[in-house]
Amino acid sequence: MLIAERFIMSSQFTPNNPLPQEAKVPEEIARFSPEVEAEIERHLAKYPPERKRSAILPLMFIVQRERGGYLDPPGVAYLADRLGVRITDIWEVATFYSMINTEPVGRYHIQVCKTLSCKIMGADRITEQCSKRLGIKPGETTPDGLFSLSVVECLGSCGTAPMLQLGFDYHENLTEAKVNELLDRCQRGEYQPTVGVKTSA
Ligand code: FES
Repeated sequence: MLIAERFIMSSQFTPNNPLPQEAKVPEEIARFSPEVEAEIERHLAKYPPERKRSAILPLMFIVQRERGGYLDPPGVAYLADRLGVRITDIWEVATFYSMINTEPVGRYHIQVCKTLSCKIMGADRITEQCSKRLGIKPGETTPDGLFSLSVVECLGSCGTAPMLQLGFDYHENLTEAKVNELLDRCQRGEYQPTVGVKTSA
């Protein structure tokens, strides 16, 4: 089945979060190196052919890592084609998880947890501090492309609230001083967060 046909089949497009870009049939499909294809194959091989869509999350991480940190339309087209699903099936999953980016993010993507434990322990204060220092609101990226700021739901580290995720690293038990130090290190280029998971296969 063609990608366009898969897209047309899905007339009910109901993502949990609105897409930052129009959902349209991509004109281009992403291509990857033999090494990346082999990594993808290893994940697909874990499931019977009729259930290969079960590999959607590890494949999303790989495509995101390889496409500059977010799922661009050619990356989404690749996933739909490789997994035998509709374009909208990919967007439905991508828009549910905050670790999957559906638009470009800065080199330092700061995600402040806003859920109960973190909220009680000062998440709003942390968000405001980041916002003031970087001059951006949650959902925005600095003009130099260095920082993006987001607020997200529980990241599973409630016992060390308040916390934030930077790239794929957790920073916990945050204080004003800790946040300032972290942002200083980023601005001086001294901190390189993990930007993409190495998927085990
Ligand atoms: S409430 Fe923040 S990590 Fe769970």
